[in-house]
Amino acid sequence: MDNKRILVTSALPYANGAIHFGHLAGAYLPADMYARYQRLKGRDVLFVCGSDEHGVSILISARKEGVSPQDIIDRYHVLNMRAFDRIGMSFDNYSRTSLPVHHETAREWFVEFRDKGLLRQSIEKQLYDPEARMFLPDRFVIGTCPHCGYDRAYGDQCENCSKYYEQTELLKPKSLLSDAVPEIRDARHWHFPLGEYQERLEHYIEGHADEWKENVLQQVRSWLKSGLSDRPISRDMDWGIPVPGEEEAGKVIYVWFEAVLGYISSSKEWAERIGQPEKWKEYWCDEETRYVPFIGKDNIVFHCLMFPAMLMEKGGYVLPANVPANEFLNLEGKKFSKSTGWSIELNEFLDTYPADPLRYTLAMNMPETRDSDFFWKDFQARNNNELADILGNFVNRTVHFVHKHFDGVVPAADGLLPEDEAFLARFGEIAAQVSDCYERFRFRDAVTATMNLARAANKYFNDREPWKTIKSDRRHCANTMHCSLQALHALTVLIEPVLPFTAEKLRTLLNIDHASAGHWDAIVLHRLPAGHPVGERTILFEKIDDATMEKETAKLGVLSEGPEIVHPELKEQITIDDFMKIDLRIGNIIKAEAVPKSKKLLKLIVDIGFETRQLVAGIATTCVPEDLIGRQVVIVANLKPATLFGIESQGMILAASTEEEGPVLLAPVQAIREGAIVK
Ligand code: MF3
Ligand code: ZN
Repeated sequence: MDNKRILVTSALPYANGAIHFGHLAGAYLPADMYARYQRLKGRDVLFVCGSDEHGVSILISARKEGVSPQDIIDRYHVLNMRAFDRIGMSFDNYSRTSLPVHHETAREWFVEFRDKGLLRQSIEKQLYDPEARMFLPDRFVIGTCPHCGYDRAYGDQCENCSKYYEQTELLKPKSLLSDAVPEIRDARHWHFPLGEYQERLEHYIEGHADEWKENVLQQVRSWLKSGLSDRPISRDMDWGIPVPGEEEAGKVIYVWFEAVLGYISSSKEWAERIGQPEKWKEYWCDEETRYVPFIGKDNIVFHCLMFPAMLMEKGGYVLPANVPANEFLNLEGKKFSKSTGWSIELNEFLDTYPADPLRYTLAMNMPETRDSDFFWKDFQARNNNELADILGNFVNRTVHFVHKHFDGVVPAADGLLPEDEAFLARFGEIAAQVSDCYERFRFRDAVTATMNLARAANKYFNDREPWKTIKSDRRHCANTMHCSLQALHALTVLIEPVLPFTAEKLRTLLNIDHASAGHWDAIVLHRLPAGHPVGERTILFEKIDDATMEKETAKLGVLSEGPEIVHPELKEQITIDDFMKIDLRIGNIIKAEAVPKSKKLLKLIVDIGFETRQLVAGIATTCVPEDLIGRQVVIVANLKPATLFGIESQGMILAASTEEEGPVLLAPVQAIREGAIVK
């Protein structure tokens, strides 16, 4: 275990959504605890992460919101970086894959592999959307999972059973772009010959089998057993890193090939920033580095097989020493789902609650070996009964007593009894236990053991009864308080990986700094000297009441159950003759622009076959003008003109809406000549 350097990475989160508790418990909190612990052990740690800003999921989010992909990544990069900062992630660098340093790195790897003849170009069957006239990236197709039958499975992976497959294997596929049934067509793509690494990967994985987690080994072995084959590493898309030399062809490097390289680019960016541009190599290209990538279980294949194969091929790079992937965290018994509101966003949570109780609760429920849950009730209980009643209570009763009876300074130890010595000896025992847990990625156990010192300290305080001995035997009482204060010092160090903000408060309270409490050995070696002044009690953990928790639980899934839907009453019946009075025509939008000073209106020029019309439509909240050009719509062609914002509107465009959604434009499902009558 005694590596000179430790490289820690956390999966780069897609910058198309806000980080939630599930992500945090899976790939971020354990990485941060591990990095903090290793730094306390005096090891040279580099901990990097960044936003994953390419890939189809970004495009889909942009499309849904009617904004550009750049808008999406800019928004979520900033938002997530802020959330990470507030929750205490101690990254040395947080980068973005849209930066030049990353594009260069990805291109360099791709070109090197291609130029040495490693990459194969081949034609592969891919789904093609005949209406949108493009090949469909995996996330633009939805259908029935060939493995479990889940009917909202994506083109590359099923969210229900987590299996990966080829998009052509998807049953009943449908394009998310146009709703059309896609055709299977030939597409030319670059492939990485993963199959050629089969043996080397088996050797690599089995070489680590005693150390790696069972859940990880199982998945990897099942992949190896079914045999590895070529993996496509290019995609037909216009968002991402263009395939070098094929910039015009609308091909980009597959997000997975380049995202994992984001760890390296983030390290390069860090090295550049500290003014030692070559320093990243010490972490990536030195055998003495122990590299540990933290991820969720859905990323296992890429980090245990694909990335290692790439690193092997590149040569001179370290491979992951362990990939302690976590299972998933659920919320009150159900999967996190942003779209249904069954989720808790980090930034929102942190507006109300401090970070440490959440870190503690998530660590105690970390999905290390199987899926686990976050329950609000459990969060309350952990905060109130453990952090406040055990840790907070011990801190406060100790400093309060010292202020009341020993002028707020550490009393000298004088003739410690075996009970006192035994208590002091516990620090080292517990520290060793906690250490062992962190080294073996057992975060729950590490935190339980950490709290055991606070438990032992409370028990010691109770057993020694200083409130009695202060009257009967002051020397004995001074010894008790001396040892209790040493326990506070030890706790300050011990809790740092899981409760960094509380550790900081304790350092202030005890008037100590990192020189005294910034090293794991300080748990046993450093002592507060006699006469050292300490602060007065403060509230470390505010209790949380039942009403607050009930409110929080009630808020969950409000979207999922939804407000009760009230359908507007049906209008009075009409005859076919009434209806025939309305002349509806198919039109084609040839121009669209915002109406100055209006938030809701767009000015459209629509070709209806025999003439063009100028329309003013209240669709600006849901439609982006540029996206409308060339779209066929339905318009009321015989409506009396009206003037809106000084612009004449010669008709009306049809759109659907409800109280909450829309307006959504109506369009013919197949193209038809402009001017066609709608009836
Ligand atoms: N953004 C992807 C995800 O969240 C992949 C992250 S891991 C990386 O699942 F190494 F590829 F960046
Ligand atoms: Zn499935």
